[in-house]
Amino acid sequence: MNELLLIAALAGGLAVALVYFVFASFVFGAGYQPAPRRVVTMMLDKAAVGPSDYMFDLGAGTGAIVFRAARERGARVLGVEVEPLRVAVLRLRRRFGGPKDRVQIAWGNLFTLDFRDATVVAVFLWPGAMEKLRPIFEAQLRPGARVVSHWHPVPGWEPESVDRETRVYLYRRPG
Ligand SMILES: C[S@@+](CC[C@H](N)C(=O)[O-])C[C@H]1O[C@@H](n2cnc3c(N)ncnc32)[C@H](O)[C@@H]1O
Repeated sequence: MNELLLIAALAGGLAVALVYFVFASFVFGAGYQPAPRRVVTMMLDKAAVGPSDYMFDLGAGTGAIVFRAARERGARVLGVEVEPLRVAVLRLRRRFGGPKDRVQIAWGNLFTLDFRDATVVAVFLWPGAMEKLRPIFEAQLRPGARVVSHWHPVPGWEPESVDRETRVYLYRRPG
């Protein structure tokens, strides 16, 4: 009986931890779901991310986009994440896998970022967050900056191209 109670308590604790990890950040703009490998490849290809880019990943999760953009495409990348456990994972990955000189990790709210230096912005967020980001992008992104989004489009913007299969949208600021 005691063993059963212990198992039930452990299972309950694990379930609560999992729900926290995936859903707690929902109030800030999105829950947690890592972009699949082929989606990340499509995002990097569509935005033509390269060594001259400074890319922001808005809601970096555990780094599915951040580390591949830095390692495989040679970009400088800023990953911003609000949930502290994921920030710890990102910092460990940066420390032990790198590349440290091209990856920055910021713990904070993506809506308070200054976007003026970004040449590429990657997003995989909920529709409400996309709605909030649109005027920020319009006010701050430099001419020619690319926005590459997985799953949800930027409302009201005309994409330069779309991959329907992976649901990747590419936008470019005019000018
Ligand atoms: C759907 S996941 C995408 C993770 C990663 N970009 C990827 O593609 O694998 C969204 C992430 O955004 C984070 N997030 C949500 N709202 C945020 C906010 N306001 N500021 C920073 N990060 C946020 C969540 O904690 C979550 O890790």
